[in-house]
Amino acid sequence: MSSHVKLFDEQEIQNRIEELAQEISQSISNDFMILGLLKGSFVFIADLSRALYRVDRHPEIEFMRLSSYGLEKTSAGEVHLLGDCPTDLSGRHVLLVDDIVDTGRSIAYARAILEQREVGQLWICVLLDKPNRREVDVRVDFVGFTIDDVFVAGYGIDYAEKFRELPHIVVVD
Ligand code: IMP
Ligand code: MG
Repeated sequence: MSSHVKLFDEQEIQNRIEELAQEISQSISNDFMILGLLKGSFVFIADLSRALYRVDRHPEIEFMRLSSYGLEKTSAGEVHLLGDCPTDLSGRHVLLVDDIVDTGRSIAYARAILEQREVGQLWICVLLDKPNRREVDVRVDFVGFTIDDVFVAGYGIDYAEKFRELPHIVVVD
């Protein structure tokens, strides 16, 4: 049996997201769009987009789906595009949003795609950053929480497709 210790409760997450929305609204251009990476970011983006509304930002929201960890706790090391964003992104200012930056490979992969499509300005926002795990150097502009090298789930984030529905974030042992 695996154990689940609560890392961030609902209120802590909501408070930090309100702050993040302030930071974002104060530092990037008004006409940005959100590009989320599925599936892990769907709950985060639901809350972040509504926090942005409260600071008078109204971004379009699109998604791309990248390959996942499958049933493992560690990445296979290779990232694939499983589902593309249908919108023409050229010249658009994009806030790329993911749940977690771990090795950095997913963000680096998504960033390369967006650069190839000649987006305008590009910023990166993640809810959780695990800096000790980084293998690829990526610049992340907005971070919700910095955490240790632990495996987490909840709040949209899965462990083998489970626990996405938790309103809080747990450490999975
Ligand atoms: P990276 O490509 O190694 O940076 O990993 C990023 C992706 O791996 C994230 O989008 C998550 O979906 C997944 N991931 C990384 N760490 C965890 C974790 O602790 N729990 C669940 N998924 C994770
Ligand atoms: Mg993911």
